[in-house]
Amino acid sequence: MENDIKLAVIGIGAMGSQHVKDIQSMSGVQLSAICDLRPERMEAVTSSSTTKSFTDYQDMLNSMELDGVLISTPHYDHTPIAIDCFHYGIHVLTEKPIAAQMSDGILMVQAFKEARKHHSDLKFAIMFQQRTYGYWKKIKSMLDDGELGKLIRATWIITNWFRNQSYYDNGDWRATWKGEGGGVLINQCPHNLDLFQWFFGMPEKVTGFAGFGKYHEIEVEDEVTAFFEYQNGMVGHFITSTAESPGTNRLEIIGERGKLVFENNILTFWKNKISMLEQIQTSIDPYAFTESVELDIPYEHHGLPGHRFIIENFVNVIRGKEELIVRGEEGLNQLQLSNSILLSSLINKTILLPMDSDLFKRELEEKIRNSKVRKEAGISLIPDISKSFGN
Ligand SMILES: NC(=O)c1ccc[n+]([C@@H]2O[C@H](COP(=O)([O-])OP(=O)(O)OC[C@H]3O[C@@H](n4cnc5c(N)ncnc54)[C@H](O)[C@@H]3O)[C@@H](O)[C@H]2O)c1
Repeated sequence: MENDIKLAVIGIGAMGSQHVKDIQSMSGVQLSAICDLRPERMEAVTSSSTTKSFTDYQDMLNSMELDGVLISTPHYDHTPIAIDCFHYGIHVLTEKPIAAQMSDGILMVQAFKEARKHHSDLKFAIMFQQRTYGYWKKIKSMLDDGELGKLIRATWIITNWFRNQSYYDNGDWRATWKGEGGGVLINQCPHNLDLFQWFFGMPEKVTGFAGFGKYHEIEVEDEVTAFFEYQNGMVGHFITSTAESPGTNRLEIIGERGKLVFENNILTFWKNKISMLEQIQTSIDPYAFTESVELDIPYEHHGLPGHRFIIENFVNVIRGKEELIVRGEEGLNQLQLSNSILLSSLINKTILLPMDSDLFKRELEEKIRNSKVRKEAGISLIPDISKSFGN
């Protein structure tokens, strides 16, 4: 009989309270502790006598034996909490994004690598639950199998992250430079940008255009268009907004061997009979398109938000039974995309990757210094975020 894996959740807000419920319903796992700066948030989620409550996470780390910690605080706090956990040799599953800015994310990965010198089996994972979705897994496997041949263009219009002003008003950290270091790029889009880099790798150059508080009373970006240039010649477009209703979620991938489109939960592949690049060179008809067949691509999908699968994977990895679905270090790619699009918009220049994370830090510090936002402390109700996970 295996011992229970002892977990703690830090940050019992909208997301953390869901993690608490998921952990409480799992077997072989004990929710040993919860921690939040605000005691009332913890009172709302657990009455179990085996779960201890803390308002200071360092007191918790000092006084408890824990196997793993889930971090679901606002993004800036992911960094010091994860680094402290690594010092104690405690496995970490942090919420997305890994951090608010690249320089913090780099510190976390360095601390993790350093800690592994003393705790060689230490694990670091990120909550990118969309990696468990059947349609994204199908697209990934088709790309990895080379079914589209050489990639020409990938365009993702992801504007169904619609948010009303009341969302931004619920929580003093939301949509502020000081509280989260950005808007839609760092809060909602980490999932899509993680998938973008998972599918296509990292671009060489990033150019971004952002609208700041264009449709909401916020100081950070709520509308973004980005252009990615890849070393292999592929170009990418990433278009997002929290102010389009009805919104769109359309991913269009063009390769020499066809066009793959995901929209309205339908995956369609127009499969070319011959390579489009070959046809360009050989066809004697100046206007002929390549012949193609239209295929509905089936996929299996669990239909759930998916956080539970990432937590179960984390536990199974701690037990040495599985590989991590998303390794902590991978979180740096999404963060670099979010930060470089924002940096490009702020300084009006194309950014070469790897980006200058110190320059981004300085730009962000200036934004924080010049901020005029004085938010009231957030409403203390925990919002139901089950509608907010996107697809
Ligand atoms: N994976 C997803 O689908 C998903 C969805 C929503 C939010 N998130 C992420 O979860 C994190 C939290 O978001 P949320 O919407 O739950 O925010 P929230 O404001 O509802 O909750 C955050 C909680 O953390 C607490 N907190 C803040 N600093 C703390 C500290 N140092 N120690 C202990 N507690 C602290 C706050 O009191 C609050 O209760 C963010 O990083 C966000 O990006 C992920």
